[in-house]
Amino acid sequence: MTNTTGEIFKVTTFGSSHGKALGAIIDGCPSNLELNEEDIQIELNKRRPGTNNLTTSRNESDKVEILSGIFKGKTDGTPITAIVFNEDKSSEDYEYLKKKPRPSHGDFTWSSKYGNYDYYGGGRGSGRTTIGNVIGGTIAKKILSIYNIKVFSHVTQIGDVKAKKVDINLIEEHSKKNDVRCADNEAAKVMEEKILSLKEEGDSIGGIVEIIAIGVPTGLGEPVFGKLDGEIAKVLMNIGSVKGVEIGHGFKIAELTGKEANDEFHIEKNRVKTVTNKSGGILGGISNGMPIITRIAVKPTPSISTPQRTVDLEKMEDIEINIKGRHDPCICPRITTVAESTLSLVLLDFMLKGGFIPRKF
Ligand SMILES: Cc1cc2nc3c(=O)[nH]c(=O)nc-3n(C[C@H](O)[C@H](O)[C@H](O)COP(=O)(O)O)c2cc1C
Repeated sequence: MTNTTGEIFKVTTFGSSHGKALGAIIDGCPSNLELNEEDIQIELNKRRPGTNNLTTSRNESDKVEILSGIFKGKTDGTPITAIVFNEDKSSEDYEYLKKKPRPSHGDFTWSSKYGNYDYYGGGRGSGRTTIGNVIGGTIAKKILSIYNIKVFSHVTQIGDVKAKKVDINLIEEHSKKNDVRCADNEAAKVMEEKILSLKEEGDSIGGIVEIIAIGVPTGLGEPVFGKLDGEIAKVLMNIGSVKGVEIGHGFKIAELTGKEANDEFHIEKNRVKTVTNKSGGILGGISNGMPIITRIAVKPTPSISTPQRTVDLEKMEDIEINIKGRHDPCICPRITTVAESTLSLVLLDFMLKGGFIPRKF
């Protein structure tokens, strides 16, 4: 099992959905950075469940405690450990799942591979484990912000409902105005109705989330096996429910001609820029100074209350399953914070590897 990401800014996440606690150990954080629990809490609150009717009704305060790595309010170069205790578990809802894998969740593959599988709430395969991504990502984001790098995200599509394009400078502000976290507030209303009506029917829905980083300097990326786009795709794909990653124009670039697809260069205030940004800020595996634009395709929540076919692994027979428990009717709104954090982890690691950021402030 691999629970660590990063080469210099190393983040190891731990914990499971119904275990005692979840969290992260961050090794390699530059010292002398002012850091407190409130910094992390602000971001954790954005991914917290039970905050509106578009999320699971599991009511967790997700209150973070920092156990190590801080001396007199600043990082001291030693491993930072931060932990969140699980408070609102209903493990009895999952007892019947012991030998009955939920369709499209990780139950079947995890239990086949590891044998001793924690089937309560999906165990370590649960979306709750992304608390660790957010803890590490918040610290990364804080450091990146010192270097004027800003990472933000928004929902651009829910099912077949697509958001209109919004000016890059307004995305962050506009997407805060609704629970879907979509920068097109009109489309957000339709998206919300869609999520709620499918929830009513015992179903769920997927969508697309765009994550943007602005202010990234030219030069991040280690060709040929550590390209920036390759590493971004890898970490984003490691988030549960992510089934596709695009950079820049992504799959749509296949429809264009070279003339249409190319980002022409020009000089702006004595700096090299591109007129368009269909490459999503990365050329040859290295950042080119333009905004990094990436999108993830998020699948519909696999745990739905509609009866479905599955198997009883003990009796080796086909059965019908009625999934209980509390689930997100759509993962997109909450995954925004997770994806932002996860992108920040990669960017910070590359900034440290490239010598753009010192190990001590
Ligand atoms: C923030 C977040 C919340 C999630 N919430 C749920 C949920 O409530 N119910 C569920 O069945 N899956 C949920 N998932 C998705 C599962 O974790 C994921 O589908 C499962 O681990 C299988 O992995 P895969 O979809 O990548 O194949 C969530 C994922 C994330 C990132």
